[in-house]
Amino acid sequence: MTSTTASSASSELALSPASSASSAPSASSASSASSASSASYASSATPAPATSASSSLAAKASGTNTQPVPVNPPHISLLEAPEIGTASAAIETPALVLDLDIARRNIERMQRATSAAGVKLRPHAKAHKCPDISRLQLAEGAVGICCQKVSEAIPFVAAGIRDIHISNEVVGAQKVRQLAELASEVRMSVCVDDPMQIDALAVATVVAGSTLGVFIDIDVGQHRCGVSTLEQAVALAKLIVAHPQLELRGIQAYHGSNQHQRSPEERNRTAGHAAKIAGEMAQGLRAAGFPCDTITGGGTGSAEFDFAHGVYTEIQAGSYVFMDADYASNIYTGELTFEHSLFIASTVMSVAVQGQVVVDAGLKSMSVDSGLPWIWEQGQRSIALTYAGASDEHGVVRPLNAEQAPSTGSTEPTGSSGSTTSSASAPASVDDRSLPPLGTQILLAPGHCDPTFNLYDRLIVVQDERVADVWPIAARGMSW
Ligand SMILES: Cc1ncc(COP(=O)(O)O)c(C=O)c1O
Repeated sequence: MTSTTASSASSELALSPASSASSAPSASSASSASSASSASYASSATPAPATSASSSLAAKASGTNTQPVPVNPPHISLLEAPEIGTASAAIETPALVLDLDIARRNIERMQRATSAAGVKLRPHAKAHKCPDISRLQLAEGAVGICCQKVSEAIPFVAAGIRDIHISNEVVGAQKVRQLAELASEVRMSVCVDDPMQIDALAVATVVAGSTLGVFIDIDVGQHRCGVSTLEQAVALAKLIVAHPQLELRGIQAYHGSNQHQRSPEERNRTAGHAAKIAGEMAQGLRAAGFPCDTITGGGTGSAEFDFAHGVYTEIQAGSYVFMDADYASNIYTGELTFEHSLFIASTVMSVAVQGQVVVDAGLKSMSVDSGLPWIWEQGQRSIALTYAGASDEHGVVRPLNAEQAPSTGSTEPTGSSGSTTSSASAPASVDDRSLPPLGTQILLAPGHCDPTFNLYDRLIVVQDERVADVWPIAARGMSW
């Protein structure tokens, strides 16, 4: 059972990774969460405590500037995490819920396929920000994890994870210093696509006395980051190997937009193109005398094709554990299909307006950048109800008429504009008796798992329709 309140958990998590990880309520959290080394790192990286900052802000607001106003009135307790054994139908909502058995099946499936292809799996932790999930993946055979930001890595280091690749460029003196310090605690690596980044890493690692792995980021078609010519890659390689504390480990070749192309033929074609560019870059670097042992990249949507093209030595997939609605809208043909394991538990909070009900999970409970959530009933996408629109704290649920009912599990994502309504307006002949009554718990499969995790302090882990554990989303909000 967890007795931590939501507010104390979040302030602890944001400010003291080592202590928050060591106070994790998970039975599986027995690893070196409170190791001396990570604790010492956390203390050096920890800004001033939130309590004093927020109290002084509160004092200013009160106009006295002397008597700090308590942030939470002591006689009102905040919502506590559910006790272990609570029926999942009784979880207070909105809550982020993981079906543990399904998540484990997804983790096993990806690991099995990756190992069978003779490739290493380095799952991306940006998808969940939760060290307990990384532990499951490492126990299954993952070689390490990816994080996208330096701060995101800190709770994972504090939780005892020993091998982390920052799959991103890092710019900014403090972040580079933190990265170099982390590299003196655990095996770390980072991406570069510019000489200035290498200079900064070189100085920081000398100061920290650490060794840092470096990957040259290659643009394989997404046109986000990464160099695009062999000449640029060789120039960066020369600079990297000139610094003994920097270790050139290989290249990163990730194509993000390909992951979400619906057609498997299209994903295969684009993955083949990316693999060709990556393979040629690796060959070119080796021919110029530089090491290029690891070619890392790939994600949930491209993994099966990345295996087949035989160029990647390491796959960085993350979302496969959860299978959000956007990823479920891809068409899959092979072994690598995954099941939904992540849900937002919501509750019907109003039935006052005819033809619809309103649930208590809106924009502050889920990300809709990749589309509205699916309503999940009896192990599948509902054929009777649709989540038709979100506002800050409300979600409108309406009945589907026959034409609107989903056929093969496909949906129309609302696109990057983040529109918050779907085409399902209230049908003229709505039968209110088919709508769920006030107080009904409704499960929603979120459109996009990564930013949805970032909205929650804790993950309610469910098995056999009961709460089995509560895991801190320890890197929630750590995006710098
Ligand atoms: C660099 C990088 N690698 C891997 C991933 C993981 O992808 P996914 O969660 O889609 O499997 C991402 C996701 O955006 C990424 O940016």
